[in-house]
Amino acid sequence: MTQRNGFVVWFTGLSGAGKSTLTALLAPELRKRGLAVEVLDGDEVRTHLSKGLGFSREDRDTNILRIAWVARLLARNGVAVITAAISPYRDTRDAARAMIEADGVPFLEVHLAASLEACEARDVKGLYAEARAGRRPGFTGIDDPYEPPLAPDLRLDTGSEPAEASLAALLQLLETRGLAPSPAEVRP
Ligand code: ADX
Repeated sequence: MTQRNGFVVWFTGLSGAGKSTLTALLAPELRKRGLAVEVLDGDEVRTHLSKGLGFSREDRDTNILRIAWVARLLARNGVAVITAAISPYRDTRDAARAMIEADGVPFLEVHLAASLEACEARDVKGLYAEARAGRRPGFTGIDDPYEPPLAPDLRLDTGSEPAEASLAALLQLLETRGLAPSPAEVRP
């Protein structure tokens, strides 16, 4: 099989917007199509590479730029990289894009646009309830900002559409951009 070029799918969205869910669907699908895939998930990165960082603007920026740096190293060596961190600040996402595109690596910003109401209603980790009760100050969407992308490569309404529909739209984009082979192109 010909070696494909790497790329970065950069998910951004509130806690509970579906970043991890969509990552868990996308990664195996890309592997099935013959791509080498690595995932940089915010929660996981914070237990290793970004251990000790908090949620101040400065710490979030450090976290995001570390993720971007690792994503760049991997993607420029042919890996399909999926990042799944809130990445709340527009400037910092733009800096991540610039760092990665400087190496000629395609960067796709994908906004998982579930509303705060939808994320809070799910509250999978119970963190919104804690934030509302004042036990988790500086929580994104409650008393810390989330700056939605102005011109993302793709916006998915993960608040209402099923994850499978979001996955299909994302795969379509990757195929259109020539980044992932269509199932028909994959030899059994
Ligand atoms: S980011 O802002 O630096 O991009 P990241 O995605 O790594 O955030 O981590 C977010 C995760 O940390 C959330 O999904 C949630 O589980 C947890 N978390 C704990 N405290 C906060 C907070 N104050 N704001 C947002 N998320 C928090």
